[in-house]
This record gives sequence, C-alpha cells and structure tokens, in this order.
Amino acid sequence: MLRNDTIIGSVESVLGNRISILIDTDRLPSNVPVIDGRVYRVGQIGSFLRVPVGYIDLYGVVTQAGADAIPEKLRDTDDPDKLKKQARNWLTMVLVGERIGDHFERGVSQSPVAGDQVHLVTIDDLKIIYGNMDDKTSISIGQISASESLSARLDIDKLVTRHVALLGSTGSGKSNAVTVFLCEIAKGKFPSARILLIDPHGEYGTALGRYARVFKINADVQNGEYPLFIPYWALPFGELLKTFVGVLTDPQEEYVREKIFSKKLEASKLLSSPPEEAALSADSPIPFSLKELWYQLDRFERLTINRGANGVITEALIKEGDSDSLVSAQFEPHSTTNTNPYLNNQAKGILRYLNNIRNRLVDQRFNFFFHSGEWEPAKDGKIKKDLDALLIDWLAHDRPITVLDLSGVPPEITAIVSGAVIRIAYDALFWAQDLPIGGRKQPLLMVLEEAHMYLQAGEESVASTSVRSIAKEGRKYGLGLMLVTQRPSELDPTVLSQCGTTIALRMTNGQDRGHVSSAVQDDLSDMLALIPSLRTGEALIFGEAVKIPSRVRIDAATKAPRSEDPKVSMAWAQTPPSADYYKQAIDLWRNGRFSIEKKEK
Ligand SMILES: Nc1ncnc2c1ncn2[C@@H]1O[C@H](COP(=O)(O)OP(=O)(O)OP(=O)(O)O)[C@@H](O)[C@H]1O
Ligand SMILES: [Mg+2]
Repeated sequence: MLRNDTIIGSVESVLGNRISILIDTDRLPSNVPVIDGRVYRVGQIGSFLRVPVGYIDLYGVVTQAGADAIPEKLRDTDDPDKLKKQARNWLTMVLVGERIGDHFERGVSQSPVAGDQVHLVTIDDLKIIYGNMDDKTSISIGQISASESLSARLDIDKLVTRHVALLGSTGSGKSNAVTVFLCEIAKGKFPSARILLIDPHGEYGTALGRYARVFKINADVQNGEYPLFIPYWALPFGELLKTFVGVLTDPQEEYVREKIFSKKLEASKLLSSPPEEAALSADSPIPFSLKELWYQLDRFERLTINRGANGVITEALIKEGDSDSLVSAQFEPHSTTNTNPYLNNQAKGILRYLNNIRNRLVDQRFNFFFHSGEWEPAKDGKIKKDLDALLIDWLAHDRPITVLDLSGVPPEITAIVSGAVIRIAYDALFWAQDLPIGGRKQPLLMVLEEAHMYLQAGEESVASTSVRSIAKEGRKYGLGLMLVTQRPSELDPTVLSQCGTTIALRMTNGQDRGHVSSAVQDDLSDMLALIPSLRTGEALIFGEAVKIPSRVRIDAATKAPRSEDPKVSMAWAQTPPSADYYKQAIDLWRNGRFSIEKKEK
C-alpha cells in the first residue's frame, strides 16, 4: 500500500492541541475511500487521524465535522450557500498521542504546523495504537467499535488507583459492564484481587458466580450465601441518629451524645485491646448496647419521685422494666397538685423520640443492623465478635470479589448503611496503611453501584465524606473507586472530577451529559455529542486506563446481572401464570422475603 493513499487533507490551523483540518476534495472525491479493500469513513466523530511530523506520527481524534469545524475567522456567515459548501471540507481534531516506530504513547511531544499532511488511520495503525498494552497489566473488555478485530483493553493499575466513573442512562449497559470488568479481573490473571461491591438491587450474586462471596439479608445459606450484618455502633453519632425517625433539639442531642459517649467509654474497656480514653468520642466505632441506652433514657423520662419529710427523695417505682425485651419501667403517675409523686423535672422531653428508637429496634427489617448476630453487644457493651472479624469476613476470604447485597435493606436507610460499609472499609485500610493488609500492599477496589443513591451532591453524609476522601487520597492508600450511576448530575461533582477514567455509555438526559464533561478533558468534550446515539453496551472511554479516547463495544457478560430487561414480547405471548401467585405475593410482602421456601427450611 502506498502511504500516500491515505492522505485526506492538510493542517490549516493549530491552537494548542486543537487542529483544524481542510479536506482536500480533489484528492478525496468520496467520503468513503477504499484502501486495501477496506472501506473507511472520513470525518466520523471519534475516529482517528494521523499527521506525520518527521519520524513521528501524531494521532488525533476527530471531535467536530461540518460547519462547527470551520475556523471562526473563515466562517462566512453572510452567505449560507457558501457556508454549506465550505462545511463539507472542515474537521477539527484533538491530538491525543504519538507513535515512534511501533511504539505508541499517550500525549504529544510536538505540534504539527499549517500545511502538514493529514492521513486516515488504517487498521494497521489501529493495531499499533491498541496493540501495545501489556497483557499482564490489562484486561480485555470488548472490541474497539471501529474494528471488531481489535480488542479494547483497560489498564488495571490506572483503573483502580485513579478511580473510574461508569455513567449511562438506565438500560445502557452499566451493570453488564461491571460484570464483564470484574469477571475479567477475577478469572485468572488476578486471583488475589480484592474487590468490594455495594449492590443496592441484588443484581450481581448470580452474575459473578464463583468469583464472589455474597452477603445479604435473608441469605440462602444452603446455597453458599452469607448473612449480612452491619453493626449500628460502627456509625458515627450523627449518622446513627439519622437512622431514627424524628429530630432532637440541640440540647437534647447533646444529652444523648453524652450518654452514648459514656456507654462507649465503659464498653471500650471490655474490648480485647482497649483504646486510649483520650482517643474516644461518641463517633468512635466502639460497641454499646442501644437497647440498654434506650431503657435508661426511657426510664429517666418516665421517672416520678416522692419527696420525704426529711428531704430524702425516692423513686415512685411500680415495676422495673427490661432492656432486653424493650419493656419500659413503670412509675406512679405524677400528681396534678403540689404533692407526691412529683414529675422528674430533669427529664429532657424526648419520650416520643425514644419511642421511635424502640420502633426501629423491634422492626424486623432492621435486624441486620440493630441485632447484628455476634456483633450485637450485650447490656454492658461486650461483644462476641469485633469489627476485625467483620473485615475478615468481607475482605479476607478465598474469592476475589465480595458482594454486599443491600436489596433487603429498608430504602430509608440504604444510604446510611452504604455509608457505614464504605466507612468501615476505608477507615480500617486507612489506619492499616503500613500493614501487609493495607491497600498499598493489597489494593482494594470499591465498586459503588447506583452511587447517586448515597452520594448526593451537597449532602454531608458519612458516605459522601468517606468517598470524597477516597477520591482525593485513596490512591496513596491503595483504595480505588468505581462509581456507577445513571444520574451523574446528582452526584457530588468533586468526586466525579477525581475519576481518572470515564466510561460513558448511552445517556439521553442533557443535564446528565453536561456533568460528564466535567470528568473529561476539555478539548474532547465535543465528542460527548455522540453519547445519546450510542448502542446498548457501547461506550466512550476517556482517561488514564486507555491509551487513547476510544469508542468501545463492551462484551455481553456470560451470566447476565439480574437487571436484565424482561422479554416482554415473549412473556405476553405465553399463557399467563396461575392467579394463585398473587396470594403468595402478599405472603412474601408480609414476610419481607422474596421466597417463602427459605423461611420454611
Ligand atoms: N454489552 C452488551 N451486549 C449485549 N447486551 C447488553 C450489553 N450491555 C447490556 N446489555 C443488555 O441491556 C440490558 C440492560 O443492561 P444493564 O442492566 O447492564 O443496564 P444498566 O445500565 O445497568 O441499567 P440500570 O441503570 O437500570 O441498572 C440487559 O438486558 C443487558 O443484557
Ligand atoms: Mg444496572
């Protein structure tokens, strides 16, 4: 093949990395030249062009074509016909990398000058661009859209340490992509990978199969699932309060904080290695009995007293209650005249709030949290298992992936629970940074599915503060994030902008697309115009984990995540199922389960 066959035009102007190209219409009579038997399309957004400069080939990606690509100064807006004719001749491209011999590098060391020739990029060029990613440090996730014979690879080091955002409308293929990435990582080359996936909809258990250990509420233990427990006492004080209904005034909150602090202080002495007192606060992850706290606070609110003639005060107690079974203590009703028994004038007026706490404690849906098995403290705060056992369960088993299936978590606390999980994992690895299990020696990738659910922009929750810290500092501690969301516009923008790699699947909402541009190099934001028209499973990938911004067709996962679209046409063409199932639906609902058999076991 003659190298000159590929010339399409010349460089007309250079502005930083942005190059305006004038197509040579004499040389290129058609927009679809045939070279070596292959048809090429000139000027496709996202396609590549080559500019030879001495021994080096510079490569760029086409970001604009047509009228928008005409340089400002040449735009003859007075004459629409002329503009139309001109429009066919212009392209804008952004330089992204260069090649010396057979070696392709991201970034450019030189600029072209006006008059330099611009070439089409052939399949042989593409092979070199995509070819030299090391097999040992990268995973294959699909094919380059421009050529099915080229596999699309992601650099695993960059992907994990520089964080990645996976964005796309509902049904665009995010969950499928996560499954493909994680299976690729786990299936051979990286058996010691450590990945923690927060799965709010319970989609991944079957899709990740033997690569993952699944923790969930109502776990099917016989089938290898593990029960999910997240102890409430690991949450900072403010977050714990958010799990209850109602609000406290500032003095009331201070009062409860003091009580929790003193309970934690007492219980900390029972831990196998008690921490220093000076390091403790109501926010410390120290066990304490919430039932006991409730009982004591409730008793104090209900208390009535008798004042003896000699000034001695006694409690007008009828019957003690019980913290274990959450029964309040009973006192004689206070008199309405100025006689015994008197009200406790020290009471804080929080009886209704305490009743809300009690409601949570008896609500079965919250068992995984308030009655967390061996992590539930006894009255004195003593526990059978501490947080280290929880971390071992989550992070030190024989499978590379841990799925925390939050599908059974009541929606009102999903955000808080996700926050608790992120905080437990982050804090433990932050403080373990010099240990062999720290992230530097054994990096951890946290995959946050439906991240907008718990990382709302402008919200100060434990999830957002922890994730912000990971986004900013995680690299140093070997902690990586994979944020998956259909609503980038709702996501904390500081977190999004820290993601070194952006994988943008189809996205129809303009506001959401606007937020993708904050995570993409400015020059390339014009390419985002392609996003609404991408096919399902097709993505634009920008950033550190790829050699060059690429349009990629992601593979279909062998086992699909459970989010798979129902086949409506097929289902509606069959005989409908028996109506008896509606009775079963109500039973399942009342039992808070997805399957009755499990309960009967
Ligand atoms: N790369 C792909 N190849 C073929 N089919 C795909 C691909 N990616 C996704 N699909 C199909 O598209 C549908 C939706 O995919 P997926 O559940 O991954 O979307 P999603 O972006 O996670 O949606 P949601 O935001 O609702 O969770 C599924 O039926 C899936 O099988
Ligand atoms: Mg999904």
